Amino acid sequence: MNTTKINIAKKELNQNGFLDIELDPTLDLFAEIERLKKEKNAVILAHYYQEPDIQDVADYIGDSLGLAQRAEKTEAAMIVFAGVHFMAETAKILNPGKKVLIPDLNAGCSLSDSCPPALFKKFKEEHPDHVVVSYINCSAGIKALSDVICTSSNAKAVVESFPKDQPIIFAPDRNLGAYLNKTIGRNMVLWNGSCIVHEIFSLEKITRLKVRHPKAKLIAHPECEEAILRFADFIGSTTGLLKYTQSDSAQEFIVATETGILHQMMKASPQKTFIPAPPDNSCACNDCPHMKRNTLEKIYLCMEYELPEIVMEEELRLKAKKPIDRMMEISRMAGL
Ligand code: 13P
Ligand code: SF4
Repeated sequence: MNTTKINIAKKELNQNGFLDIELDPTLDLFAEIERLKKEKNAVILAHYYQEPDIQDVADYIGDSLGLAQRAEKTEAAMIVFAGVHFMAETAKILNPGKKVLIPDLNAGCSLSDSCPPALFKKFKEEHPDHVVVSYINCSAGIKALSDVICTSSNAKAVVESFPKDQPIIFAPDRNLGAYLNKTIGRNMVLWNGSCIVHEIFSLEKITRLKVRHPKAKLIAHPECEEAILRFADFIGSTTGLLKYTQSDSAQEFIVATETGILHQMMKASPQKTFIPAPPDNSCACNDCPHMKRNTLEKIYLCMEYELPEIVMEEELRLKAKKPIDRMMEISRMAGL
């Protein structure tokens, strides 16, 4: 379900979903973005998977839960969301009075795309006595079909808010769902979706790295496959992984998530060594092609021309907001 309409009042987006305007290469983008922030009362919220330059101009960098919490309470007039579409959409759902911009409208998510609302509606009808817990990496259409949303930082608390005997559908990430089933003893029915970044880590290459770096700890995001998670010393959301590298005494870490997070890890602990876990292809590290569609140039252009903008139908927004509000409340109660 495409819920985003494009405001073409000032400039046209190209067919790839962004403003393709040539910029003077001598333009100081860092200074220009700071100027636009002040002029337009804008705040830049960035996910850890953004490129380092974008993280450096952001006002807040966080995981999906932290970003949703920031978006909900910001008093800025404009939210520039340096992340992917479902994140910017969540910001609009939570704070509809703000202008929410995304530098590239086609910055999607394979996990979100793996769960189309029409198919999921049928799946839900096949499990009539089940409640639906959906991972935040899904469209507003899926959120509207859900009872509660979760992120990787609050998933355990969200699932445990239901009694043990309550039948549950978990969507769309089968890896996070299986991890939850295993660690908190549930038997949730899983939608068969996955993330293209987290499902391609190579156990063989990670094992070789462990042999070369015997003191290194393997840390992994729960979107990774079970075969990787089984060997991880620590499993957590991006914020959880970052905090672990700061508090743990290990000096070397093999990091099984998108490589953007290494920027904050190295900034927080410059004396430690961070090795990106290699994927099962010819690359040495694992970038999310959707997250990496955003660039500093696109951030500047989207602030200057206020495009692309997230615009939603109010009826869908209200339906999608209910399960997000429930997640926010559970997170507050759990001190997250
Ligand atoms: P978190 O930042 O919530 O851990 O999610 C990771 C992710 O894959 C976002 O797309
Ligand atoms: Fe989606 Fe995976 Fe990219 Fe996150 S890393 S935005 S889950 S494709």
